[in-house]
Amino acid sequence: MGSFMTEQHGPSNKPTHILRQLGTSNLHISPIGLGCWQFSKGNGLVGKYWPALSNQTIVDIVQTSLQHGVNWFDTAEIYGKGESEKALARTLQQLNVPPSDAIIATKWWPVARTAGSIRDTIMQRLECLQPYPISIYQIHQPYALSSIRAQLEAMKDLITAGHIKYAGVSNFSAKQMEEAHQVLQQYGLSLISNQVKYSMIDRRIEKNGILDTAKRLDMAIIAYSPLEQGILTGKFHSQSKSDVGRELNRAKAQATSVAPSGIRRWLPGFRQARLIKTWPLIEELQRLALEYEVEPGQVALNWLIHYHGHYVFAIPGASRSSQAAANAKVLTFHLSDSEKEHLNQLSMQVTL
Ligand SMILES: NC(=O)c1ccc[n+]([C@@H]2O[C@H](COP(=O)([O-])OP(=O)(O)OC[C@H]3O[C@@H](n4cnc5c(N)ncnc54)[C@H](OP(=O)(O)O)[C@@H]3O)[C@@H](O)[C@H]2O)c1
Repeated sequence: MGSFMTEQHGPSNKPTHILRQLGTSNLHISPIGLGCWQFSKGNGLVGKYWPALSNQTIVDIVQTSLQHGVNWFDTAEIYGKGESEKALARTLQQLNVPPSDAIIATKWWPVARTAGSIRDTIMQRLECLQPYPISIYQIHQPYALSSIRAQLEAMKDLITAGHIKYAGVSNFSAKQMEEAHQVLQQYGLSLISNQVKYSMIDRRIEKNGILDTAKRLDMAIIAYSPLEQGILTGKFHSQSKSDVGRELNRAKAQATSVAPSGIRRWLPGFRQARLIKTWPLIEELQRLALEYEVEPGQVALNWLIHYHGHYVFAIPGASRSSQAAANAKVLTFHLSDSEKEHLNQLSMQVTL
């Protein structure tokens, strides 16, 4: 599996990112990528999840991410029905990023479609992203009408034709990712990644065999919703939830607490009972954040991309450039082994 390769230095001249090899590919990417679901422009059902961002905000987010060493981007066909891909490509062009320097991961949407659609729609994807190539093409969900074999054979055809560099999957179970890998192996290729939900309060992939399978097959895990859509920044934990906390953290929580907006209001993780449950972890993230002069979310991301060696990459999304800066700058401090282990214990007590 990938090893640490080169160091990049940010404006402060501190190393901001150390590039890692992604699975068995020849791609060397920052452990933190930028999630681009937020660039959907409010288009389509999935795209309506986040408020539409202005073009300028998108430029600021991408520029800030690049400045802090992020060198790859995760988007998808379903994010605004191509709007996210288009916004990303437009922005990279505006920022004069040459096609050879952009590493883009996008996804084919499989619901109610057969494997034939992988071949039939690739030109649309390339058009939305032009002039940028697709480095990683992922099957978004395991719900296509065709078999995994047929889907991966279509992906193989795209690689052979030079339309994409590598194939990955998303939301696949351990068994499904293994099957996908086996199909590609018959053609001398490898599945390089499984993109799944993974955070300090959702560690199900450690129990259902996904992480073990990734390690065994030398495959990367790309962690989506790594901040639990903002919960791990601590901003949704109000004072009432911190009653078990120390005075210092109560004051901090009160000062920063905000209410979730949109669909997040209805999700279990944002409900009062669950926020109370996750508070002890947030409190420790806040304590460490004060110590390292960073933010709680940065501690959570730092833990996530280190606790299992080099296997886990994370793709936090951002709604403004200050968030992108914070999320990109997670490698400016080092958690000690005992701090990581203590966080592990607290996280185990509150995780799904
Ligand atoms: N493969 C899949 O099925 C799948 C599913 C979901 C996501 N994804 C990918 O994963 C990416 C990230 O996942 P996600 O967007 O669900 O969750 P996330 O990255 O955990 O959370 C993103 C949201 O949290 C808030 N936030 C981010 N950084 C922050 C900071 N430093 N301080 C305070 N608030 C911050 C922002 O929302 P507010 O400012 O509005 O609070 C932002 O939109 C997506 O963009 C997408 O590329 C993939």
